[in-house]
Amino acid sequence: MNCEDFPMLKQNLIYFDNGATTLKPKCVIEGINEYYNSYSANAHRGDYSISQKVDSMYEGVREKIKNFIHAKESSEIVFTSGTTDGLNRIVFGYFKNHLKENDEVLITESEHASNVLPWFVLEKEIGIKVKYIPLNENHEVTMENVKRSITKNTKVISLAYITNVIGDIRPMREIIEYAHQKNILVVGDGAQSISHLKTDVTLDDIDFFVTSAHKMYGPTGIGFLYGKFSLLNEMEPTTYGGGMNAMYLENGYMELREVPTKFEAGTQNIAGVIGMSCAIDYLEKIGINKIMQHEHHLKEYLVNKLKQLDNIIIYNETNPGSIVTFNVKDIFSQDTAVYLDKHNICIRSGNHCSKILNQVFSVSNTCRISFGVYNTEKEIDYLIEVIKNIENIWQEIL
Ligand code: ALA
Repeated sequence: MNCEDFPMLKQNLIYFDNGATTLKPKCVIEGINEYYNSYSANAHRGDYSISQKVDSMYEGVREKIKNFIHAKESSEIVFTSGTTDGLNRIVFGYFKNHLKENDEVLITESEHASNVLPWFVLEKEIGIKVKYIPLNENHEVTMENVKRSITKNTKVISLAYITNVIGDIRPMREIIEYAHQKNILVVGDGAQSISHLKTDVTLDDIDFFVTSAHKMYGPTGIGFLYGKFSLLNEMEPTTYGGGMNAMYLENGYMELREVPTKFEAGTQNIAGVIGMSCAIDYLEKIGINKIMQHEHHLKEYLVNKLKQLDNIIIYNETNPGSIVTFNVKDIFSQDTAVYLDKHNICIRSGNHCSKILNQVFSVSNTCRISFGVYNTEKEIDYLIEVIKNIENIWQEIL
C-alpha cells in the first residue's frame, strides 16, 4: 500500500529495513524543501515576518505532537535529535540528580544499546545498579517477572514499548500501573513503536517517553522527548547556550528559561521539526491501526512462507508486530544480507545494536526483516523465491 508516495521506491527496490529507518514520503521531502526554499529563518530569534512564521510553525509542531501522543500540555514535549539523545538527556539530566548509590534500574537484555549504555555510565558515576528483568521462553517481558524483579531499591523501569530485534510488544500500561504503586518511575523507548502502535502517554501514565522521527517516515536527526511536566521541571539541561537562558552575568550566574525552552539550546533542527510534522500528518492520514493490521498480516504471511523452507531458523515466530528475525542455516547473517542485496532486497543483519541479546538467543548475529506501510505480499513472494536459490550464494557474492 502507498508505494507511489515514496520516491525511493521508483528504483527497483524492496525495502525491508524499516526498523533501522523508514523511507520518506514525498510530502515530508516537500515540506522540508519548502522550508529551505521559502522561509528558511531561525526560530525564536527574529522580529521579521518569515522568522515569526517559523516561530509559529515550530511551536505548532509541539502542539501537534502533544495531540499525536495525547500529552496534557505541549510544554511536556522537548525536541531532541532522536531516541538516543532523548534517553541520554533523561538519564543524565534527571536520574543522575535523583538516584543514589545502590538504587536499582530495571531493564532487559533485549533493550537497544541506547537504553543500556547510559545506565551503565550512571552505574560507574554514582553507583546505581543495573538489573535485568528475565525474559520468558518467547523472549517477552511478563508481569510475573516484572514483579519478581522489583526490590525495595528499584527506582526506575526503562523499557522499549516494542523491541528492535524480537519485536515483542510489552504490557506497558500494566507495568506502569504496578510500578507507580511502588513509587517507581517508568521510561518508555518508543523508537520501534511510534509508527506501529498508538501512543497515549496520558492513558499509559508513562513518566518519560522518547522516539525518533526517522522511524515514522520523517527525517533523520530529529525526535522528541515527553516528560510529565513536574519531572521536566526538575530535569537539568545537558546542553547550554543560546535560546535556553533568560539571563547570565560575567560572574557565572545564570537564569534558565522555562520548560521546555531550557532544553533547546542553540539553533534547533527546524527543517527536521517541519519534516516530522509532515510525517505525523502522513501517519494520521493512513491511521496507525491500519498500518499495524497491514504489518501483522505481512508478518504472518512471511512466517508461514519461511516455515515451508527447511533451511530457515526463525527466532521470534510467536511475537506479534512487524519484525521477523531469522537465519538461513549454515550461512552467516551478513552473507545472507549481501546475497539478498544482489537481488535488490534490503534487510538488516548483525546484532542490531542489541549486543547482549545473545544471552537470550544464543546466537549473536541474525537477519532482520522489518515491515513498513509500502511492503506487500508480492515482495515477500519474491524474497522467498530468492531464498530458495540461496545455494548460489557463493557464486553471487564472492
Ligand atoms: N536501532 C536501529 C535498528 O534497530 C538502527 O536497526
